[in-house]
Amino acid sequence: MKLYEQVADELRQRIEQGYYRCGDRLPSIRALSREHGISIATVQEAYRLLEDEGLAQVRPKSGYYVRPRPATPQMPQVSRPTQRPLEVSQWEQVMELLCANELPGVLALGRGMPDISAPTLKPLHRALADGRGASPIRGFSYDSLRGSPELRLQVARLCIDSGCRLHPDDIVVTTGCQEALSTSMRAVTQPGDVVAVDSPSFYGSMQAIKAFGLKAMEIPTDPVTGISLEALELALEKWPIRVIQVTPTCNNPLGYTMPEENRRRLLSLAQRFDVAIIEDDIYGDLSYQFPRPRTIKSFDGDGRVLLCSSFSKTLAPGLRVGWVAPGRYGEQVLHMKYVGTAACASLPQLAVADFVAQGHYERHLRRMRAQYQHGRDQMIAWVERYFPAGTRISYPQGGFLLWVELPGDADSVRLNERLLDQGIRIGPGVLFSASGKYRNCMRLNYSEKPNERVESAIQRIGEECTRMLLDIEQVA
Ligand SMILES: Cc1ncc(COP(=O)(O)O)c(C=O)c1O
Repeated sequence: MKLYEQVADELRQRIEQGYYRCGDRLPSIRALSREHGISIATVQEAYRLLEDEGLAQVRPKSGYYVRPRPATPQMPQVSRPTQRPLEVSQWEQVMELLCANELPGVLALGRGMPDISAPTLKPLHRALADGRGASPIRGFSYDSLRGSPELRLQVARLCIDSGCRLHPDDIVVTTGCQEALSTSMRAVTQPGDVVAVDSPSFYGSMQAIKAFGLKAMEIPTDPVTGISLEALELALEKWPIRVIQVTPTCNNPLGYTMPEENRRRLLSLAQRFDVAIIEDDIYGDLSYQFPRPRTIKSFDGDGRVLLCSSFSKTLAPGLRVGWVAPGRYGEQVLHMKYVGTAACASLPQLAVADFVAQGHYERHLRRMRAQYQHGRDQMIAWVERYFPAGTRISYPQGGFLLWVELPGDADSVRLNERLLDQGIRIGPGVLFSASGKYRNCMRLNYSEKPNERVESAIQRIGEECTRMLLDIEQVA
C-alpha cells in the first residue's frame, strides 16, 4: 500500500470508529504531515482519496471536514404480500437477468456485483497467482468435506466481530453463499414444507424453495426494521412453517438492518414454534455501522440458526468461497454438501485464508464500506433528481443495492425491455417475489464509483419511466 493510502486508511478508520463524526473538522494537513513525518503533498493526496470516496469535504480557507450525510429519502411502504404459502414462479425472469448481465457493453445495474477493481484486492491476486500456502499436491487434491482448516479458522475469527463464538469445526465451506443457502434449505425441510421469507426477498433462495418442492410464505416487511414479527407470528400460528429464511443485515434488496431487539424476538418466536432459521449474512461485513451488527446466530443457544455467508460481496464472487455454520443440523448439511459438490476448490480457499490472516481483508472492507456509502448517497441524489415525482427509495444501511418503488402503474419489466436498446439493464422487482409482485419496483446497483456513465444511465431510466407513465395516462 502506498504511503498516502496508509494515511487515508488511518483517517477512514478513525471516522468509522466515531472519533470524528459528520461535520467534525479533520486534522490539518500540516498537523498530519508532522505526526507522520511525511510531506504535505502526501497528506493532500490522502485527503483527495477520502474526498473521492465521499468521506471528507474541503471548506475553503478552513480545512477538511467529515462530510455530513444527506437527509433520508422518501422510503418505500411496508410490503403487503399474499397471505398464504405460494409456489415460487419467476425462474424465467431470473434466468433472463442472469444471462442479460453477460451481454457485452451492457451497463448491468440490476446485478449484485461488487466493485472488484479496488487496489486493496491486489494481495489476493498475488496469493491466487502464486498459490500461497498451497503445495501443488494440496491444490490438486480433493479438499476435505468440511473445507480447508486454514479458511475455517479465519472465518471463525471473523465471526467474533458479529458476536459469534464458533469453533472452526462448526463451519462448513461451500461453493458460494448460494450453496450454503440451498444445502441448508434441503437439510431442514421435506418437499411440501413451508418456508417463511421476508418480502421482497433474494431470488436465489426463492429459487431453492422452488427447486426443492417447498412453498414460500412471504411476510410483510418494513424497509427500516425488516420482517414484521407480528405478521410472522400469525403465519407461524396458521401454517406448517418449517423454517424462517431472512437476511437481517444490509438486506438484499431493501437494504435495512433489523434492530437487535427484533433479532432476539425473531429467535424467541423460532424457539416457541420450534422452527429453524436460515440467516443469510452475505452483506453483513459491508455494514456502514461500526461495529457491525450482531448476527441472530450470536444469540442462538440451541443451534437452530444456520448462518450462511460468502466472500462474494466483500471480495469477489468469482472466488466462489462461501460457508455455513449449520448448528445442530451439521450432519444433514454435510450430507447435502457431499451430494451437491463433494468438495470445494482448494486454491481459492487458501488464497482467501491467507488474505484474511495477513490483515488485508479488514483494510479492503474499510475502503469498500466508505466507497459504497458514498455511492449510496450519490445514487439516491440521482434517483431523486431524474425519476418521476412520487418515486420512493430505500436507504441501505450497508452493501451496494438500492430498492426503488416507482409511482402509479409503472412497470419495471417493460421498462427493462425498453432500456435494453440503450444498453442498460435494471433488476425488475418481480424477481424478488414468489408470485411476481413488485412490478412497480426495481433494484439498482451502486458498487461502481460514481461516474458520468452511471449518472447518464439513471437519467435515461428516469426519462423512460416518465414517458411510460405518460403513455399509461393517455391510454386510460
Ligand atoms: C442475499 C444474497 N444471498 C446469497 C447470494 C449468493 O451468493 P454467492 O454468489 O456467494 O453464491 C447473493 C448473491 O447475489 C445474495 O445477494
